[in-house]
Amino acid sequence: MKQPLRGAIVGYGFISGQGHAPTYAKHMGNGRAVEITAVADICAARRQAAHEMFPLARVYPDHASLLAAEAGTLDFLDIATPPAHHAEIAHAALDCGLHVLCEKPMATAATDAQAMLRHAREARRVIFPCHNYKHAPVVKVVRSILNEGVIGPVHLVTMQTFRNTHAKGVKEWRPDWRRERALSGGGIAMDHGSHTFYLAFDWMAAYPTALTAHSSAADGHDTEDVFGCTLTFPTGVVSAHLSWTAGVRKVMYTLHGKKGAIRVEDEDVELAVLEAGPGVVAPGSPGKWRFEHRVAPSAWMDASHTGWFSSLFDEFRGAIARSEYVGRDAMEACLCVELIERAYRSAAEGSRVLDLPDGAIDRTTRPRAPRPLPAPGHAEDLA
Ligand SMILES: NC(=O)c1ccc[n+]([C@@H]2O[C@H](COP(=O)([O-])OP(=O)(O)OC[C@H]3O[C@@H](n4cnc5c(N)ncnc54)[C@H](O)[C@@H]3O)[C@@H](O)[C@H]2O)c1
Repeated sequence: MKQPLRGAIVGYGFISGQGHAPTYAKHMGNGRAVEITAVADICAARRQAAHEMFPLARVYPDHASLLAAEAGTLDFLDIATPPAHHAEIAHAALDCGLHVLCEKPMATAATDAQAMLRHAREARRVIFPCHNYKHAPVVKVVRSILNEGVIGPVHLVTMQTFRNTHAKGVKEWRPDWRRERALSGGGIAMDHGSHTFYLAFDWMAAYPTALTAHSSAADGHDTEDVFGCTLTFPTGVVSAHLSWTAGVRKVMYTLHGKKGAIRVEDEDVELAVLEAGPGVVAPGSPGKWRFEHRVAPSAWMDASHTGWFSSLFDEFRGAIARSEYVGRDAMEACLCVELIERAYRSAAEGSRVLDLPDGAIDRTTRPRAPRPLPAPGHAEDLA
């Protein structure tokens, strides 16, 4: 039997307790693919929660004492603290020769994210972001429809993420840390922008060349709760709207190609395909579409997205097995932080359109352009 990966968690709060730990516990009991041997959290009540979940794991009050005592017997560190601490903890783990699984956003500043990637390359250790929306069943359905080529290359995407409150952290610590810029680095754009941007890269099969953004914050908060942006890609346009003040919790995405469109509303997917070819549809006629509905239960109401983590963790393990230290996910995580930072600048400058020439992005951390969609009949998994 292969040796299990030995890991430790830093920050045992909502996402690690509800989203990561159940998968680790399952793997530990079944085939021992992974073993959590230590946990660090600055909050005593959360250390107690970690002890109850992993009774054999040793618990520490901070990452430094955990690494000092445990690094020699660990393979990876799972970082799930608020974003402002990700960079410091990742560097400490890489210094100890550990692989790093890091919650989004990878960092709160582009220079920090770039330095993390460079450090991982130098240390020859994997750095991997928790870009878990790619692992949502409904998002996998979208990817498989795109692979079939039935709507053609995507040239327009709209993305709406509605929340009726900011996401809350565990009550034992600071449940409202997302409204404290020093811990969060920003509001809904910093919290959710990564998910929006990495899905956009995949669907547009490209990286953006310009953006404009706007944001607003309710009275008394120093982080924004409404954020909108338009990204220009070589392949088309993406318009995104994120809100913590919506009347409902919901995601709504639309993707448009020349031959049809995909609409996602939580777990529902509607595929519209233009039946008659361009030569058949009379000039000026709106065309005729065939509609198809699919349902991909994705448990959107559960913010821990615990069902998506296993597939993400498999990718992290694969990157370790391949010695893929800084892969596409890591580079896209860095690009996401760069875009969030630039979007904040655009919003602060009256929604000024900011070009994103290649030189504006650190070349050593910039991913190469995604491969274009395969031609119909030559479906290929691009995920
Ligand atoms: N991928 C997703 O879908 C998803 C969902 C929720 C949260 N997240 C991300 O996970 C991270 C944590 O968010 P959360 O909602 O779990 O927050 P949380 O407040 O519930 O948990 C954070 C935990 O970290 C501990 N902590 C804080 N600073 C620490 C430090 N310096 N060292 C050690 N422990 C520390 C706190 O005591 C707390 O237990 C954030 O980066 C967030 O963006 C991702």
